[in-house]
This record gives sequence, structure tokens and C-alpha cells, in this order.
Amino acid sequence: MPAQVVVGTQWGDEGKAKIVDFLAENADAVVRFNGGANAGHTVAVGNEQFIFHLVPSGILRSRAMCILSGGVVVELEQLCAEVAELLERKIVVDENLLISENCHVVMPYHKALDIARNKRADSIGTTARGIGPVYSDKHAYMGIRVGDLLDRKGLLEKIRAALSEKNIVFDQIYHIPPFDPEQVVAELEPYIEKIKPFVANTSLLINKLLDEGKTVLFEGAQGAMLDINHGTYPFVTSSHPIGGGVCVGAGIGPQRIEKILGVVKAYITRVGNGPMPTELEDETGEYLRTKGGEFGATTGRPRRCGWFDCLVAKHAKRLNGLTEIAITKLDVLDELENIKICQAYSYRGETLTELPVQADVLSECEPILTELPGWQEDLSEITSYSDLPEKAKSYVSSLEETVGCPVTFIGVGPKRSQVILAPQPGVGAS
Ligand code: IMP
Repeated sequence: MPAQVVVGTQWGDEGKAKIVDFLAENADAVVRFNGGANAGHTVAVGNEQFIFHLVPSGILRSRAMCILSGGVVVELEQLCAEVAELLERKIVVDENLLISENCHVVMPYHKALDIARNKRADSIGTTARGIGPVYSDKHAYMGIRVGDLLDRKGLLEKIRAALSEKNIVFDQIYHIPPFDPEQVVAELEPYIEKIKPFVANTSLLINKLLDEGKTVLFEGAQGAMLDINHGTYPFVTSSHPIGGGVCVGAGIGPQRIEKILGVVKAYITRVGNGPMPTELEDETGEYLRTKGGEFGATTGRPRRCGWFDCLVAKHAKRLNGLTEIAITKLDVLDELENIKICQAYSYRGETLTELPVQADVLSECEPILTELPGWQEDLSEITSYSDLPEKAKSYVSSLEETVGCPVTFIGVGPKRSQVILAPQPGVGAS
């Protein structure tokens, strides 16, 4: 199974890193293909917790080469801080980390612009990591790539050109001090020296690994509902967190991909603004937030919580061509007497069974909910599918049926060990 993809099927924060870390044990490489430090991927090993924003979650498995491919946007200071922390914690980071020369670099002025825009009343509520501004510059042919960092004179010219427009915006629209191009370069200097040994043509390398039959795991950041084309625009991120994003971001052909695993949280969460039909603004929502630790790993913002939304899941299945799903955080539902799932929406008197793509339509949709009995038992110590309570099995089967592809993993806690392998091919067959 050479090319395997792990993607989020909701609004991000599905628990992808835990699944990536699990699968990375048998992977030769783990590749990030989209997004940047807006991601916050948490892996718990024993009593230790690691939060990755840029470094691929496979770094804890010494066998895997970890690659930031060209679709990723890199904040140098953050990357260097993550590497330094890993080294301090005795995790090997040397020739096992590579950064594409095509990655665009998040500059301090991108972050400043993101922060300034977030203060506007009509802000979508970003993670303030400069993601929208860096991808905008990329598409406006004004970006700075990792490869550009190695030629200091050319770099200064490129930054000067990019700032010639932005400094006017900073001064006249946001009333913040302009950036001095020479100072920007000087501040990047120490980080450039640190990342230099990791820079490579990663598309070439990834294709070579695949040609040799090696297992390459592609780690998605964010989730399908945040895709710039297919998400709830404009409440989205600037990249493609879906299967197709792998080809574009990592530079591989679509025929290479054999398995696309969608990570599905047992309920649903969202951070930032935008419609979310099954959102619970009551004590059940509060219960999910507290029990599930639903606070952003990047920003600390409380996540909005709600019931599982089948329309979102089906949308993600279609966009990604999912071949299997992993259900995470099933244990968070342990104490609930009843659990609801949304099978359809009511929109202006009509019943919708497919997700409407317009954010303003979605914001008027009311969920039509089906109730299932809760199991009210502690799942966190269960290691085998057959030991799950029957009501938990029924809930899992309902999600499997809805999404229409087999469940292969069930997460019952944050630790690496808290994963149940579902009987193949999916629980419905058991
Ligand atoms: P940006 O990616 O920082 O520009 O933020 C755009 C939208 O995507 C905001 O609603 C963010 O909260 C959301 N977002 C970005 N990255 C993540 C993530 O890793 N998890 C969840 N939401 C995210």
C-alpha cells in the first residue's frame, strides 16, 4: 500500500495526528501537503504530549522520513522552535526532516496583515498565523519560497517588491508601522541558517520512494469543510485539505494514491466563524467541550461543539473519494443518555439530504436529528472491538452506514494505545 492519505472530514481538529502517528509506525515517510502552522496536531505517548504545528506527526517514529512538501507554508521561527523542542526531548531530527524548496515562507508581514484583518468586524476568525496572506501572495506571484532564502541579494529584492504594496496598506488602512525589508531579512538570517540543511526537491524524493514501493503516508491538516474550493466559503482556509490536495501539494500523480482514510470525530467541532447547523449552545455542547478538551491547539480558542452531521460526512466522502474512516473520540460520548445524529436539514420548508455549498443557505438550515441510546459506560480501557457495548457498536455502525465506507480504527482516548482496530472490512460486516 505505497501511498496512503489521512484527511480530516469535518472542520479540522478530528484527531488526525493520533491516526497518523499510529500508521507511521510502518511508514517510510510522512508528508504534510497543505496548510501551515494553523494546524495543531497533538500526539500523546505514555504521559508525554507533543503538539506539532509544522513538523509532520511521524517524527516520533524514528523510521519515517518527515517531509514538508511544496503545498505547505512555512513559518521559519515556529519550525525552528519545534525542532529545538524535539531535540531537547531527545527525539531525533536530522536527515529525517526535509523541507521543499517550493514551500512558501510566512513572513512577519503576513502575520501582521492576518492579525490586522482579524480585528475587523467582518473577520472570519482565522488562527492569525498569516495563512491567508501568504497563500494570497503565492497566487499573486509575490511570494517568497524556501528556495529563495538561499540567495540573500535576490531575497531582499523580492521582499522589497512585496512590501512596496503592503506597506501602503499597513500605513493607510490598518495604521500600523511599515516593515523595513532589510530588517526583515536580518531577522530571518538565523532561521535560514538553521533550516538550510533540510532543504530539498521533495517531489522528486517522494516519487522515488513510491517507485521503490516504499510506504508514504500523507498527513492532511484542517478538514474538508475548510477547503478553499469546496468548504463553507468564505469561512475556510486557503489550501486544499482533501485528497486532491495531496497531488497538487506534494507533486505526485493521482494514480499513486490507493487508500484515503477520512478521520471522523464521533461528534463535530468548529473554531472560527461560519455556519454549523448541528452546533449545541447548551449544556450538552459544554459537556462535549469539557470532556473532549475542545480548545484549539494553536490558538486556545474554545471550539464550537455539536452533534455528528451526516451531510458533512457524505460531502467529505465525495470530495475525497474516501476508502475508509477512522472514528475518533468515541469515549467523549460515554456519559450521554441519548446521542443524536443529523441525517437531513430543513431549509425554508424543504428537506435537504445533501450539504448545500453556499454558506448563507447553510446558515439557515435546521438539523433534523435522529436519537440513539447512549451506552453510559467507560470505553477508555477497551482494546478490542468485541468488548465495546452493543449501543456503542450500533452508533459506530450508523456512522459507517451513513458515510458508506468501512470503519478501520476507533479512538477511545488521547493516548497512542487507545485505538481499537475494527474488524475488516468495517464493523457493519461483523
Ligand atoms: P486560517 O487557516 O488561519 O486562515 O483560518 C481560516 C479558518 O480555518 C478559521 O475558521 C480557522 O479557525 C480555521 N482553521 C484553520 N486551521 C485550522 C485547524 O487546524 N483546525 C481547525 N480549524 C482551523
